[in-house]
Amino acid sequence: MRVYPQGVTVVTSRDGDEPRGITVSSFTSVSLTPPLVLVSIAKGSLLHDQYREAKAFAVNFLADDQRSVSDRFAGRTTAKDRFEGVRFTLGVSGSPVIEGVRAVIECKAWHAYDGGDHSVILGEVIRAELLSSKKPLVYYEQQYTTTEAAEHPAPPSDIVW
Ligand SMILES: Cc1cc2nc3c(=O)[nH]c(=O)nc-3n(C[C@H](O)[C@H](O)[C@H](O)COP(=O)(O)O)c2cc1C
Repeated sequence: MRVYPQGVTVVTSRDGDEPRGITVSSFTSVSLTPPLVLVSIAKGSLLHDQYREAKAFAVNFLADDQRSVSDRFAGRTTAKDRFEGVRFTLGVSGSPVIEGVRAVIECKAWHAYDGGDHSVILGEVIRAELLSSKKPLVYYEQQYTTTEAAEHPAPPSDIVW
């Protein structure tokens, strides 16, 4: 998988009043009608059971200047409370939307499936919003990187796929 570039997200949720977050690159779209996306969460993660049972979650698309945010929510720092010093608001799903992210997709839980040592968690999209024009954070060859500016202008917006 290291030769396949992947965007980096932090999937957030709430346990009562406590915000929760985990760095996730295994995120993709699944269906347009209804609009479904999936994230895959390791069963070994301390937060796994909570995500499996969560009623809602948010997928925060990290920007290139948020490498330290990715490390923090991947448990790569000594921070005990991953949200300490991280500014966020609560979105329509009640899940944290981290300040400075490129975009957010908020979901209502749809269904969770067994996926070997991971659970594949599907969410129904209730909000999708672009929040900044910063470059995306990408994980590739086990390192953070970003994208080059497109050589050609984007196609007209009436072309969907
Ligand atoms: C770039 C990157 C992508 C990751 N993607 C995933 C993922 O898709 N699913 C997952 O379960 N863990 C993923 N992880 C690892 C988790 O973020 C990490 O194991 C987790 O935060 C540990 O949390 P815990 O303290 O809840 O066990 C990724 C880590 C990084 C740095």
